[in-house]
Amino acid sequence: MTTLIIGAAGNLGSQLKIAYADSAIIGWDRADFYFLDFNLLRQKLDELQPEQIINAVAYNAVDKCEEDEREAALAWKLNRDLPSLLADYCLQAQIPLLHYSTDYVFGGDGRLAGAYTETDKPQPLNIYGQTKLAGEKEIVRRALLGLKYYIVRTSKLFGPLGTSEHAKASFFDLMLKLSTDHTELKVVDAEVSSFTYTPDLASASKLLLDDKTARGIYHLTNSGSATWFQALQYFFDIAHIKTNLIAISADDCPRPAKRPMYSSLANTRRPQLRPWQDALLEYWHNKNK
Ligand SMILES: NC(=O)c1ccc[n+]([C@@H]2O[C@H](COP(=O)([O-])OP(=O)(O)OC[C@H]3O[C@@H](n4cnc5c(N)ncnc54)[C@H](OP(=O)(O)O)[C@@H]3O)[C@@H](O)[C@H]2O)c1
Repeated sequence: MTTLIIGAAGNLGSQLKIAYADSAIIGWDRADFYFLDFNLLRQKLDELQPEQIINAVAYNAVDKCEEDEREAALAWKLNRDLPSLLADYCLQAQIPLLHYSTDYVFGGDGRLAGAYTETDKPQPLNIYGQTKLAGEKEIVRRALLGLKYYIVRTSKLFGPLGTSEHAKASFFDLMLKLSTDHTELKVVDAEVSSFTYTPDLASASKLLLDDKTARGIYHLTNSGSATWFQALQYFFDIAHIKTNLIAISADDCPRPAKRPMYSSLANTRRPQLRPWQDALLEYWHNKNK
C-alpha cells in the first residue's frame, strides 16, 4: 500500500514520515516540485498512482492573509483548491484521502460549557478559518459521490521542527528562544484550546487509516485544554526556566485576525490521546537528549 504524504517536510508532515517509516511512502514537498501548478500535480498523481493520500499542506499565516490580498489568494489556493483537487483525484481513483483542518473553523464565542464536537456548526472568525472550512466542504461534497475521506481537525501543534527550510518553530520553541534574553514575557491568557504533539497526531492519524474507520470528520488533539499562558507556565516549570511570565488579555495583544476565545475540540469518535502535559514533558526530555 503506497501512501503519498503531501507537505512531507512541514512540522506535521515530517512526523507523518516517521510514523510511516515501516511502510511504503512517498513524500512530496515544495522542494520536490511546484505542486501549486495543478496540471503538473495531476500528472504526477497519475504517474504515481498512490493507494492513499495524506495532505499536510496548508497556508497557516493567520494574520498575514487577513491584511494582504495576495496572501489571502494563496490561502484560498492551498486550503480550498488543493484539497478540492485531491478529493477529485481520490474519488476517481477510489482511494482514501486524509486531510487536516483546524479548531479555527469554530467561532469560539459564547460557548460556555464543553468542547466542540465533530458535528457542531462551524463559524470561522477569520480568513484562515474560512479557507480551511471551504477545504472541508470541498471534500465533504465529494462524499455524496462516494469519496472515502477523513477530515482531522486539530489545534495548537507543537513538536520537532519540520525538515523544510521554511519550517516554523512552535509556540514553545519560540518562547524558549525569547526566554534566553528576556527576564519577563507577556503572554495571552486566553484562547483556550487543546495543545497537540505532532508525533502523537501522526501516530493517531496512521491508526485512523489503518483501522479502516468509517469516513468522516474527526477531532484529534492531546487531551485537556489551556490558554497560551497556562501552557507556557507549565512548560517553563518543567524546563526550570526562571523568566517571569505576565498574563495579558487578548485585548492587550491586538492582532489582525480575530481568534476564537474557546475552541477546545472534543474527540467523541476515536481513542483519546494522552494529556498535553505528558506529551510536552516527553517533547522536552527528547529535546535535551
Ligand atoms: N500549526 C498549528 O498549530 C495547526 C493548528 C490547527 C491545524 N493545523 C493544521 O495542521 C496541518 C499541518 O500543519 P503544520 O503546522 O504542520 O504546517 P506547516 O509546518 O506550516 O506545513 C505546511 C506544509 O505546507 C507547505 N506549504 C505552505 N505554503 C506553501 C506554498 N506556498 N507552496 C508549497 N507548499 C507550501 C509547507 O511547505 P514548506 O515547508 O516548504 O513551507 C509544508 O509542507 C495543516 O492542515 C494545518 O492547517 C495546524
